Amino acid sequence: MTAYDLVVLGGGPGGYVAAIRGAQLGLKVACVDENPAFGGTCLRVGCIPSKALLESSALYMETSKHLAKHGIKVDGVELDLAKMMKRKDQVVKALTGGVSALLKKNKVTAINGRGRLDAEGRVVIDGEDEPLEAEHVILATGTRSADLPGVEVDGEKVVTSTEALAFDAVPKKLVVIGAGYIGLEMGSVWNRLGSEVVVLEYLDRILPGMDAEVAKEAQKIFAKQGLEFQLGRKVTGARKKGKGCVVESEGNDDIQCDAVLVAVGRVPVTQELGLEELGIQLTDRGYIEVDDHYMTARKGVYAIGDVIGGPQLAHKAEEEGIACVEGIVQGVGHVNYDAIPGVVYTEPEIASVGRNEEQLTEAGVAFKVGKFPFRGNGRARAIEGVDGFVKVLADEATDRVLGVHILGAHAGDLIAEAVAAMEFGASAEDVFRTSHAHPTLAEAFKEAALAAHGRAIHI
Ligand code: NAI
Repeated sequence: MTAYDLVVLGGGPGGYVAAIRGAQLGLKVACVDENPAFGGTCLRVGCIPSKALLESSALYMETSKHLAKHGIKVDGVELDLAKMMKRKDQVVKALTGGVSALLKKNKVTAINGRGRLDAEGRVVIDGEDEPLEAEHVILATGTRSADLPGVEVDGEKVVTSTEALAFDAVPKKLVVIGAGYIGLEMGSVWNRLGSEVVVLEYLDRILPGMDAEVAKEAQKIFAKQGLEFQLGRKVTGARKKGKGCVVESEGNDDIQCDAVLVAVGRVPVTQELGLEELGIQLTDRGYIEVDDHYMTARKGVYAIGDVIGGPQLAHKAEEEGIACVEGIVQGVGHVNYDAIPGVVYTEPEIASVGRNEEQLTEAGVAFKVGKFPFRGNGRARAIEGVDGFVKVLADEATDRVLGVHILGAHAGDLIAEAVAAMEFGASAEDVFRTSHAHPTLAEAFKEAALAAHGRAIHI
């Protein structure tokens, strides 16, 4: 029996970061992942490969369609999909290799295999005789793609995001089920590379949970780019048919296409972890139930990240991993759930932090709105990034910033300033009294804060 202070099950952004923090704090740590490459869904088949393809496909689009506007002539632009995929794979390889190196550098024992709780403080690895003994165990097993009744995923024609990151040819017509993060990002990639993309969404809007005004404006922009949206569509079936596929939805004609991407959410991975045997409860929605210290019903067994619910975001899992370990070792760990940004990496990007108008209204909070469009921003004009706006929501009485929502070029980077402002409890006035370099896109944030006071300068 090998004894550790901490064993982490799952080597994604939540798990490996928790393992490294544990080692930094002097614990003897092992991190277990069933995949030989550490980094989890995010690094292997999620955030990172999708961003690599979003970048490549945006460059392809830019070169074939938009360079002429800048007075740059290019002829004969061609797509080499195999090379594009190879570059993406190299990006993933470099980063997963980097995680393994970080674990090693921090003296975390990386174990390949599927782990399961055998008893409090004991983890069994499939195929290994010797269990791991640990004072503390953190479950960070993440999520997998949700199934949809009637939809027969075969991994080739009817696929999840994993396979949609590796098509070996551009599907002529791609149907995407679900207009959430994955549907919009992967739909954008294949649309840019030449697919006719139809997005079927159950609700009457895209991006549920995001600020409604932002989602509506984004939909208009994506439609102009060529994505076809069919809202209020409940998909009831999809399968391979002949050389292509067929998609069925309630009250509508069947759609014939070449490939189907199912992106209707992700569900927690909780099976075969030994939870039931140990009496560890799941919530109504199937997530592992934890207390404020991420502890399950069993002493010394913790859970963090996607598997406990909340926003399914790598950085949220990282924060929880660190807070959990610091709680174990130092007695305190904290995550500020009011200031966790979310970013959709479309073009333009969509980023938000804090509450949106609908949530504030529902909570009965009196707030003021400051909005500034990028067409009023000099830098946005210079880079052809005039679509979208920044919206600042501030408390009516105290002026404290309660939410910031950005649709526009580089929104994912711009939101960092808003997160920092909220983390420090800034008011809209604090934001606009802070000098912003000119000409930068960040000035749009300052102007939106000014607009919340009815005194924007450039509009
Ligand atoms: P999602 O929850 O973002 O969107 C799923 C969409 O599918 C929703 O709009 C939902 O209404 C719709 N839907 C559900 N059932 C349907 C049906 N029968 N027919 C038609 N539409 C239906 O989930 P998604 O896009 O699969 O992503 C999963 C998670 O992964 C997200 O929660 C997100 O947090 C994370 N993610 C984050 C990214 C980022 O941070 N940029 C990128 C990709 C994923």
